[in-house]
Amino acid sequence: MKHTDIKEIFNATDIINQTVTVCGWVRTSRDSKNVAFLEINDGTSLKHLQIVIDKALDIEYEPALKLGTSVKVEGTVVEARQGSVEINATSISVIGTCPPEYPLQKKRHTLEFLRTMPHLRGRTNTFNAVFRIRSVMAAALHNYFQSRNFVYVNTPLITGSDCEGAGEMFQVTTIGYSQDYKNEEEYYSSDFFGKKAGLSVSGQLEGEVAAMAHGKIYTFGPSFRAENSNTPRHVAEFWHVEPEIAFAELPDVIEVAEDMIKTVIREVLDKCPDEMKFFDDHFEKGVIAKLEDLISNEFGVISYTDAVKLLQESGQEFTYPVEWGCDLQTEHERYISETVFKKAVFVTDYPKEIKSFYMKQNPDGKTVAAVDLLVPGVGEIIGGSEREGDYDKLVAAMKERNMNLDLYTDYLDLRKYGSVPHGGFGLGFERLIMYVTGITNIRDVILYPRTVGNVR
Ligand code: 4AD
Repeated sequence: MKHTDIKEIFNATDIINQTVTVCGWVRTSRDSKNVAFLEINDGTSLKHLQIVIDKALDIEYEPALKLGTSVKVEGTVVEARQGSVEINATSISVIGTCPPEYPLQKKRHTLEFLRTMPHLRGRTNTFNAVFRIRSVMAAALHNYFQSRNFVYVNTPLITGSDCEGAGEMFQVTTIGYSQDYKNEEEYYSSDFFGKKAGLSVSGQLEGEVAAMAHGKIYTFGPSFRAENSNTPRHVAEFWHVEPEIAFAELPDVIEVAEDMIKTVIREVLDKCPDEMKFFDDHFEKGVIAKLEDLISNEFGVISYTDAVKLLQESGQEFTYPVEWGCDLQTEHERYISETVFKKAVFVTDYPKEIKSFYMKQNPDGKTVAAVDLLVPGVGEIIGGSEREGDYDKLVAAMKERNMNLDLYTDYLDLRKYGSVPHGGFGLGFERLIMYVTGITNIRDVILYPRTVGNVR
């Protein structure tokens, strides 16, 4: 590279008096009598680099004063206040001009306003920090699994079988339905795959296939949900981390989930101190202390049955009344993690009727070995379970749900050929980023959010 990253200029130990070339977008500028100043940012660092222009040097600097202009600067690195560095420019060239209607002006814009320009918002401090945290966290997740013998697998995004069975699958088709088809069957058989296909809501079923060969696997890719839920926690395309572990029971799954969350957050705190300070200052006061606290304490564990009792005895007025068998609503989940435990908490062993077909049936005949991880402020960030390893019980659960067994022959075969106890979970990557940054809307932690009525 012919230019140096701004991050490297700040991090270098022996750079004073060196001549460097840096590039970036102008974030602020100031023109005074004898000197002009630019602050530029190239996206590698949260901090802007100050460029000092001595007007006596006859550098053509005026076109570079406009916000948003992209520039290349050559100059000498010199010490600045508070142990920082800046550049005394010897030449400045404008790479791309930027007109005054540039939407990102100096003032602080609201997140709602910035959501209308996903192509530009990355140039603000907030999104500079969000997307670096996202990147470091993705690498930390890979590091976590890679260093513990998990094999990274890429499960298909187009699938013929529904994992969660909640009717939330986007259909994949090359032909629209028309009255010309006698029935659905004829329509689907004329389509690209010759049968109904959709975008995967989870890589779990194929993840189990891989775990039955490699022992420990994880996926990290997009999942799609055609949920009509317009909430700050749902997007139609989210990134899903799904480990699957052979020879493991529910407590093992819980152990991995807790260890993964703590290890990844530790790495982010260590690698992104500037970004985390930024979130602490501007989005959630005390977020760093919250995360340190999370790392140094055991997560809570409570069974669904005990959680229901606790909610019923809380004396709290809920919009949705609680009774055994109901799905826990956000208000219930928040009460459990924010008011009762005041920390991350695993809720286990849910009624089988409200959970998926593949979960291991507990001996009580009423519950399954499921687990959700709830965190204060965000709610559920992980959903997982031990899987039913018994062929007959699995088939019975599928029949109860009127599922077409022919679509799940691979999955059922795993229970025929050397079945083992196994389990895993799905982490909503964006939800973890929300928890770590204190950003309260999922649309602000993904480059291009896809939600009901919104695709760009
Ligand atoms: O609880 P879910 O539906 O579990 C599964 O999909 C399992 N097959 C995972 C597994 O065991 N391998 O989803 C897992 C997580 C949720 O806890 C949530 O964090 C996230 O995925 N998630 C979403 N995130 C954003 N937008 C949505 N619409 C989401 N739906 C689920």
